[in-house]
Amino acid sequence: MKDVNVGICGLGTVGGGTFNVLTRNAKLIAGRAGCNIRIVRVASRRQRDDIDLGGIPFTSDVFDVVNDDSVDVVIELIGGYDAARELVMSAIRKGKHVVTANKALIAVHGNEIFEAAEKAGVIVAYEAGVAGGIPVIKSVREGMAANRIDWIAGIINGTGNYILTEMRAGREFSEVLKEAQDLGYAEADPTFDVEGVDAAHKLTILAAAGFGVPLQFERAYTEGISRITPYDIAHAELLGYRIKHLGIARRRDEGIELRVHPTLVPRSHLIAQVDGVLNAVLVDGDAVGQTMYYGPGAGDEATASAVIADIVDVARSVAANSSQRVPYLGFYPSAMENLPVLDMEDIQSAYYLRIQALDRPGVLAKISSVLSEHGINIESIMQKESELKDGRIPVIILTHTVQERQMNRAIEELEALADIEGQVTRIRAENFN
Ligand code: HSE
Repeated sequence: MKDVNVGICGLGTVGGGTFNVLTRNAKLIAGRAGCNIRIVRVASRRQRDDIDLGGIPFTSDVFDVVNDDSVDVVIELIGGYDAARELVMSAIRKGKHVVTANKALIAVHGNEIFEAAEKAGVIVAYEAGVAGGIPVIKSVREGMAANRIDWIAGIINGTGNYILTEMRAGREFSEVLKEAQDLGYAEADPTFDVEGVDAAHKLTILAAAGFGVPLQFERAYTEGISRITPYDIAHAELLGYRIKHLGIARRRDEGIELRVHPTLVPRSHLIAQVDGVLNAVLVDGDAVGQTMYYGPGAGDEATASAVIADIVDVARSVAANSSQRVPYLGFYPSAMENLPVLDMEDIQSAYYLRIQALDRPGVLAKISSVLSEHGINIESIMQKESELKDGRIPVIILTHTVQERQMNRAIEELEALADIEGQVTRIRAENFN
């Protein structure tokens, strides 16, 4: 079989890692691919002194890679939306396969990209875009092909998980974020990490591949971790929960829930033990039950591991010379469903509430009566005399599952009570049932 020639676009964290691993493990990768994977061109805005390209032509224009007739596979590792989209679309037009780690690109422009790729008969592979080095796309799309996938829930942003983990030890948000940036985990714009945009990109892709629906990033609900306080982290722990920033996609008869937000998870659940920059994705299938995929969600060689697995897939598929390839989103287009993404008010969740109450007789009765009028069942309630200050005391409540619409109305009424001060803090909770 002929060698497969690849051109690497972007020599940042992931590009550098990909170059190094492809070079270092060339022999064993060739053994798996059934052919040599040759890097024939590298393009990046800036050259890296720490990487010895060994004479491979380097250019500062990524389009040189697309225009190089010897390149079979374009490896897009430049990130961002517009230039990456142009690069990928022009590679497809030239009949080249594409491997990308760009979750933003796939989540936002994936429908268009896959349609063009289908017409051109080329592969667009994106494993590295979701949960870094964890082969979760392959698991959902191929490994779970027998199942109706009912829900997916994951810690899919390493930077955010690193920050929440370190905050448990009492460290400052900004200091930890800076550390994550220095380690190369954070996005170019770190608000994408802490406000949940990056996780929403990844969740959008997971949901599409899991449920067989088009990519619908614009419908994803996104809430970040910047308002999480050490107080809530500590009180969640007292209730037996840990706060994690989760992406949750749930299939319901009327549509799918697609949401990223801080979430209380039971401390006894495996996912609560996932700390630092590590990621984990839970996938529940009707046949297999709950499965969990765990590992590094960011980092140079960890992400390169997924990029190169995709290159090997491309090489094998090209060798098989078959037009029946693994479909981009796991389902052939004719079998895709048009399930809508539900409005956030229609999702169902349990809730942690923190209410700043005046220390007067009857306050708890008023709070519980508002909740019960909205059909909200209290699971636990906590009020500590030691936290009484200036006649005010926090009341912490954990509820059973209820529709978000009911909770919104109850919170409005609670905030209107004369005995309640300020806004009610609400964090959703998940028991993975
Ligand atoms: N910024 C991302 C993260 C990188 O922290 O998870 C991997 O997608």
